[in-house]
This record gives sequence, C-alpha cells and structure tokens, in this order.
Amino acid sequence: MINLVIGSQWGDEGKGKIIDVLAEKSDFVVRYHGGNNAGHTVIANGKKYPFHLMPSGILHPKSIGIIAGGTVLDLDVLISEIDILEKDGYKLEGKLFISDKCHIVMPYHKALDEAYENARGKNKLGTTKRGISQTYADKVSYNGIRLYELKNWEEFEKKFKFQCGVKNKILETFDVEKINITSEIKKFKLLRKKLLPFLADTFAILQSAISHKQNILLEGAHGVMLDNDFGSYPYVTGSNVITGGVNTGTGIPAQKINDVWAVVKAYTSKVGEGPFVTELNDKTSEFIREKGAEFGTTTGRPRRIGWLDLEAVKFAIDLTGTTKLAITKADVLSGIKELKVAIGYELDGKKIPHSSCGYLELAKVTPIYKSFKGWEEDLRPIKKYEDLPKECKEYLKFIEDFLGVKIAIFSTGPAREELINI
Ligand code: GDP
Ligand code: IMO
Ligand code: MG
Repeated sequence: MINLVIGSQWGDEGKGKIIDVLAEKSDFVVRYHGGNNAGHTVIANGKKYPFHLMPSGILHPKSIGIIAGGTVLDLDVLISEIDILEKDGYKLEGKLFISDKCHIVMPYHKALDEAYENARGKNKLGTTKRGISQTYADKVSYNGIRLYELKNWEEFEKKFKFQCGVKNKILETFDVEKINITSEIKKFKLLRKKLLPFLADTFAILQSAISHKQNILLEGAHGVMLDNDFGSYPYVTGSNVITGGVNTGTGIPAQKINDVWAVVKAYTSKVGEGPFVTELNDKTSEFIREKGAEFGTTTGRPRRIGWLDLEAVKFAIDLTGTTKLAITKADVLSGIKELKVAIGYELDGKKIPHSSCGYLELAKVTPIYKSFKGWEEDLRPIKKYEDLPKECKEYLKFIEDFLGVKIAIFSTGPAREELINI
C-alpha cells in the first residue's frame, strides 16, 4: 500500500501530525522534495519535534525513514536533527537512509536567496531565505553539487571551488559577504564523516519494498498553492508539490500510489507575500492566529490568516488526484459565531476559476462566500464523529460534498491522540 500525504493549501496544514499518525502502519516514511523551508510539527509522547528535513513518521519504532533524491539538504540542519533524535535515544543507523542524488544547499545558495530578497525591496517574495530556490536553480542548470559528490571527495572539492568562484562574483555585485572557501571545505569534511553511513540507493530500497508489498508513506511538504508549476508563480517554492513530484523525487511511478491524502486546514494560513483571496485582517484573524498558534515553524513569522478557500482547495484536489481528506484545526474555530467559506471567485462581475488566475487576477478577484453558523463546544476531547456539534458536522459535510471526496481523518488537536477516524 502506498499512501501520499499532500498539503492542499499554502503549507502548514498539519501534514506532520497526519503523517505521524499514518506512519504507525507504515514500513517506510519518505521525504521526497523541498528542503528545510518545510517545518512539520510532530508531538509524540508529550514532546514536540519541529522537523524540517527528517521524515515526520520516523519516531515510530517500525518505520524506516527515507530522504529521497528530490529533497535538497542543508547539511547543518540535517545533522542537528539527527543529533536531537540520537540524544533522545532513537538509533538512526539502519533506520534512516538518504539518497546520494539529494542536492546540497550550499552557503552561497542561502546568501543569494537573501541577497535577491533584499534587492527586490518592497516587491520581495517572502521566501524562508533557506536557499531553496537557488539550490533547485543550480540543479536544473547542471551547477548543483549532490551528496554523490560529497561521497567522492575530490569531485566535491573541485566543483565546490569552481562554484564558489562564480558565486562569489555574483555576491560581490550584491555587495554582500563572500564565501570563505577554505573554512567551508573544512566544515564539509567534518559533516561528510557523519553523513556517509546514511547514504544508500533509496530507489532500490523502495522498489524492493514495493515488490514485497510493504507499506510506504510519502510525505509531501509545503502546499499545492506553492507548487513551482501550478502555484501562483512567482509566489511559490522551488519544487513540485503535486503528485508528479513523487516520481521525480523517489522513482516510484505515480500510478503505484493507492491513496492521495489531501490535508485541509479548516481555515487558510499563508506565510510570505502574494495574493490571498480570503485573507482577514480583523479580530477573527487575530483570534485564529493566537488560538491556532499560527506562527511559522521555520521562520517564526506570524502566518497570514483567512477563511477556508474551497475554490482553491478544489483545484488542489483535482490536480493531485486526491482520494481521501484529512481535516485539521477545526477545533480552532470553536467560539466563532459565523464562519465563511469561499465557494468561487468573481472578476469584473463574472465567475472565474482558480485555474484561470495568475497572481494579477488573484489579487483582484472577490470571493463568493457561503456562511455557516459556528459552534461553541471545544472539539478537542471529542472522540466520535456523532458527538461533534451539529454545526461542525454541517461544515464538514459541505466540505466533503463540495470537494467530492470523503473525510477519512478529522484532527481535533495537535497531539497524536486528538483524532477521529471516520
Ligand atoms: P505542516 O507544515 O503541514 O506539517 O504543519 P505545521 O506543523 O507547520 O503547522 C501545523 C500546526 O498545527 C502545528 O503546530 C501542529 O502541532 C498543529 N496542529 C496539527 N493539527 C492540529 C489540529 O487539528 N488542531 C490544532 N489545534 N492544532 C493542530
Ligand atoms: P510546510 O512543509 C508554509 C513559502 C514561503 C514563501 C514561499 C517561497 O511547513 O507546509 P521558499 O523558501 O520555499 O523559497 O519560499 O514558499 N513556503 C512555505 N510556507 N509552509 C511551508 O512548508 C513552506 N515552504 C515554503 O513562506 O512564501
Ligand atoms: Mg509547516
């Protein structure tokens, strides 16, 4: 059985929690795209783990963690996550395998990401400044350096020196500090020792898992609206978030995937710049931000908040071939008298689908809202679907009907146990 979990909005839908829950029955949990721009929170045995690169399901004793080749790796971050887990008693050798196809996020990628953002001034995109887009840009222009080269040290040194030479000239034009080649090489030599034992042919491992009918859980990062091709470019991320990213990221053919789970947060949040059709800037958004702890796991930035945008989520569902829904954070909405959901967009008096909108249209469309009566009850202690407040069930039923996909998991709080299987 192969399950894929994808964020259906702008990221931070609660994928980490859902992945952790589904991982209990998985032999393998696989990160396959993006980098440490992702921040996935897992709360296990009362402890909070804000993972950026580690597969979120790795905490389960039986699950093997794979970081497949579509992922880009900041090695300092990766090693600090390995260290945290090892300190907490998790033995990772033989439990974590990393593809040597992964491209390395280099110090110059981070410096360039920041330099471009600063140069854009008021037109900045609001990236995480983790060097992600720069790493993918080097990958597609054959300037990338992978763990493969790190394994073959002479190749690494040669390529790193060449890239630093070029990148330092660019950094100079931005008037920012250049990369110190000697000290960086020393650092990579140390990191290399720690990482080499984890490198493996992850393609072969996954193909063997498929032929032995083992359970594989694919962990999507970010959200569909941030997809490099189908998101509202340029307010996107550097990787493919949608289902196709699985094939390029892991080598698993897309048709082998049994279920695509879309994680849908009961409202919308967004970090970074760009159009946000259902955005709220009022007491309700303040209430949701505080109650839902909507501050970035990666950058700590306050997340922008808005009503659930079903027009956008429907686009994500169609685009990814979603077969199951996991709804999160409806507990945050308890106490709000009237809830709204966007069921379409209008531009110049005419309806326009999300798929026809670029960032310029998205900045101008007005949402068509449907209103719902809210509920007062705290959802977190509720363990059965039947026991949910009537108004909450109506809200959920509408989501299911509108999207044409059944809800299979309803999350009622951040912890593993706060969950209703439907
Ligand atoms: P991800 O990037 O999609 O994995 O999501 P993040 O971890 O960045 O952000 C989601 C936040 O919501 C985390 O702090 C989770 O612990 C929390 N969370 C997940 N599911 C729920 C839920 O159903 N209710 C509440 N209140 N919090 C949740
Ligand atoms: P998870 O996996 C929320 C956003 C950034 C920025 C844009 C580009 O935790 O859901 P980048 O650094 O990728 O070049 O920034 O993408 N972004 C995310 N927002 N959650 C994420 O990941 C994100 N990953 C990227 O805020 O707007
Ligand atoms: Mg996140």
